[in-house]
Amino acid sequence: MTRNAYYVTTAIAYPNGEPHIGHAYEMVATDAIARWRRLEGREVFFLTGTDEHGLKMVQTAQREGLSTRELADRNSQRFRDLAAALDISNDDFIRTTEERHFRSSQEIWNRMAAANNGDIYQSTYKGWYSVRDEAYFDADELTDGEGGKKLAPSGAEVKWVEEDSYFFRLSAYQDRLLKLYEEQPDFIAPAERRNEIISFVKRGLQDVSISRTTFDWGIPVPNAPGHVMYVWVDALTNYITGVGFPDDKSEQFKTFWPADLHVIGKDIIRFHTVYWPAFLMSAGLPVQKRVFAHGFLTSEGKKMSKSLGNVVDPFAVVDEFGADPVRYYFLREISWGQDGDWGREKFVNRSNADLANNFGNLAQRSLSMIAKNFGGQMPPRQLGSGEDNKVIAETILAIERMTVAMATEQLHEAAAELVAALSAANLYFAEQAPWGKKDDMARMGAILATTADIVRRAAIAAQPFVPTAADKMLDLLAVPADQRQLEHALDPDLFIAPQTQLPPPEPVFRKFEQAKAG
Ligand code: MF3
Repeated sequence: MTRNAYYVTTAIAYPNGEPHIGHAYEMVATDAIARWRRLEGREVFFLTGTDEHGLKMVQTAQREGLSTRELADRNSQRFRDLAAALDISNDDFIRTTEERHFRSSQEIWNRMAAANNGDIYQSTYKGWYSVRDEAYFDADELTDGEGGKKLAPSGAEVKWVEEDSYFFRLSAYQDRLLKLYEEQPDFIAPAERRNEIISFVKRGLQDVSISRTTFDWGIPVPNAPGHVMYVWVDALTNYITGVGFPDDKSEQFKTFWPADLHVIGKDIIRFHTVYWPAFLMSAGLPVQKRVFAHGFLTSEGKKMSKSLGNVVDPFAVVDEFGADPVRYYFLREISWGQDGDWGREKFVNRSNADLANNFGNLAQRSLSMIAKNFGGQMPPRQLGSGEDNKVIAETILAIERMTVAMATEQLHEAAAELVAALSAANLYFAEQAPWGKKDDMARMGAILATTADIVRRAAIAAQPFVPTAADKMLDLLAVPADQRQLEHALDPDLFIAPQTQLPPPEPVFRKFEQAKAG
């Protein structure tokens, strides 16, 4: 039996700079998943936030002439602003510099230190470190860069470090991790990623350095003056802090932990599917149920870079187009789990075709005919009409297929099903041609009522994708706030009652112009 509670998270971003389009994409996708689960009637907790410790933050602040705290405060706020601009429905926003998180991280540390006669021990770390990745690398993972530099797989420069450090006994977790991947085949998605991780773990795991002594911007290791936790230990712990840890007897923690889903970028899978479950096992806490790694975005087909001038500012696109069309593009155009591209022309085509012409026109045409010919009162349907029943049944089937797609978070497929259902409804509308039924008002009314009902069902299912527009459509259809759940879209016997007075129709989606060439 699946529990009713559902806990979903984004990765928490380093606020060492402004949020970029990749952050926007991850927020939107996770938000659509959270909203879909709420639509299904589940009790959702959705967490996002910022990852504020580590050397990268310290060095960026120095370059900008700010204190590290000032940098963190300023940029963390920008991530909150982005969430608001994109209509993200997170229930909490965590900052790893908060007091609650210090307590939580120190408690998980103590539990790991106490586990199995000590999963944490002191030694000296000697090896390569990349500040940009905030990660350690083995010599055989590196490549040679210009001027004798050594580079991590991400292309970031690594530096040799030697320091006194605490280590976590990751090597002891190989078998337990392999068993986890075996027993929970959907622990890592998409499937290609799962295979990568299994072979990585099979090659054998080394213990990991989990404290630093050469700077102090971090969470102090309990009873170990001079040591702060390695930033990833405290970062990953945000997921349990967010639901009340260290108070693991609290209602919130018992309700929501283990998390159902961590949504992350594909570059940080090892941290989430190897380190994090091992830390949790060590601390005697249940392991999260699933990790989904999404791909990366290019811009106009190329990797985003300042020199190419193709860096897309998520605030600017939302300002120009509004949150809904931008959300829709991410969810429909990019295959979930694959890399994708932000392209302005593709965006305009997609938004105009699917939202303005397909969805928007169906709503606008049917509602304005109801306003004009029926004084805005919902006309009755004709129960015996095969065509009408068929198109409604098809819409319900499409929404059922969306539910199946969303069970494994296939956002782009769910969006495609919705649009296909709307295309079928547009075809029905064109074939039935209600504007030519002036001599048979009962028939005209039945076609319009059928169409309006499809718009209602589609708008309910569209809420996770285009929340503002979908809500507005449901308002235009006078659908009460307590009849906007998935069950109301799927119920074959539920319709807007005849005679319901609708507000004056208004267009819900804008049409955008292509940029002029040159
Ligand atoms: N800040 C990290 C990054 O941007 C992600 C941390 S996710 C967490 O790569 F779970 F570890 F917190």
